Amino acid sequence: MFKYQITGGVPLAGTVRVSGAKNSALKLMAASLLTTGKSVLYNVPLINDVYTMADVLRAIGATVIITPDRVEIDSSGELSHTTPYELVRKMRASITVMGPLLARLHRARVAMPGGCNIGPRKLDFHFNGLEKLGARIHADHGFINVATNGLTGDVISLDYPSVGATENLMMAACLARGRTVIESAAREPEMIDLAKFLTSMGASISGAGTETIVIDGVDELHSATHTVIPDRIEAGTFMLAAAVTGGDIEIEGANPRHLEIFISKMRAIGAAIDERDDRIHCRAAEAYHGTDIATLPYPGFPTDLQAPAIVLLSLAQGHSIVTENVFENRFGFVDELNRLGADVRTSGHHAVVHGQSRLEGAIVEAPDLRAGAALVLAGLAASGESEVRRIGHIDRGYENFEQKLQVLGADIKRVETGDLAPSAAPFN
Ligand code: UD1
Repeated sequence: MFKYQITGGVPLAGTVRVSGAKNSALKLMAASLLTTGKSVLYNVPLINDVYTMADVLRAIGATVIITPDRVEIDSSGELSHTTPYELVRKMRASITVMGPLLARLHRARVAMPGGCNIGPRKLDFHFNGLEKLGARIHADHGFINVATNGLTGDVISLDYPSVGATENLMMAACLARGRTVIESAAREPEMIDLAKFLTSMGASISGAGTETIVIDGVDELHSATHTVIPDRIEAGTFMLAAAVTGGDIEIEGANPRHLEIFISKMRAIGAAIDERDDRIHCRAAEAYHGTDIATLPYPGFPTDLQAPAIVLLSLAQGHSIVTENVFENRFGFVDELNRLGADVRTSGHHAVVHGQSRLEGAIVEAPDLRAGAALVLAGLAASGESEVRRIGHIDRGYENFEQKLQVLGADIKRVETGDLAPSAAPFN
């Protein structure tokens, strides 16, 4: 295992290029199980979650080749319908193979994510939706078994616009008989990316990116090539890195239209932001203003940027209230942030951030991916030396994180610790 050693207080400046979106790439990889051909994906971030998804696909029987510029997935061989626990426990997003396997093999046996950190994150919307399409579901020995005599399209109204459920259902419906309508669907840009990939494989999908997605089933899907959209969460993380360090960063290869509410909040807090087609320029301000934030499904403020945004609010004048509406228990990192000198108090799904903290270097532990990135930002903003431990969480989702920060001037080093790898974290 590794940790980061950081000497804070350096304003980060320069240009950084964002990688492809983790949350899209993983689902595109799962979708490639729907065809008996070869899929080629470009702009896939080379992060541990992508390697885990490659292992999931290999365990199922696909051939996966990862090169620096593309990922090739050949699903032409005979596939197994079982996804092993050891892989699902590492990465919850593994459950998105359920829809494609059910559609192609008419059955899937996927380990339940479980694990000590998963908490209340449920899969009921996935199961209810698949049942509506004609799947039978039962659990045994820690596995979920889904089977069907043939999927048939139907109207599925989600109780909540779940990202994973929308993706699983969209993929399953591609090979179902007739028309499927997903109402109250997730509207994240990743839904549009997945629908584009599926469409280029021969699927018939309209409405992705809106709350109603219509899928007309087809008999089979063919090979396709696709380029993954930019990672909006990584772009937001670098904008915050500029803001909290008093820096000035130009972010290339990003899509500012995927971050509209985040950008408007950053401006309300005081950061200076210029957007052009695929670039975002973020300059720090002399002083920031406390601002309330509530996370919501897209196009609302992204829950994955909640923890990094709290670091900036800690440096702002006045109080801010942050409300987490997407996940329960997503303030677990606050105690670590307070060890660096922040003053954040939580009650249920609210956090009150008492601003104008002077952050000071300390030893902290990353509890999950996005909170880990937030603690790195806090360390970069703090005076003196910090250590961020358990950075295996960060390696799951940020490609070349410390190298990109170093190019911007950060004093950050990766150091081996000899500790064991962290178990799966609740938030992907
Ligand atoms: C995805 C993203 C994650 C992001 C989240 C919300 C990936 C790999 N992960 O996670 O980074 O933070 O979207 O934007 O893409 N829920 C249920 N029942 C269900 C499904 C979900 O109750 O069947 C609840 C969850 O417990 C959670 C909320 O709905 O509280 C949102 O979950 P969902 O949108 O499904 O997120 P994920 O797909 O898991």
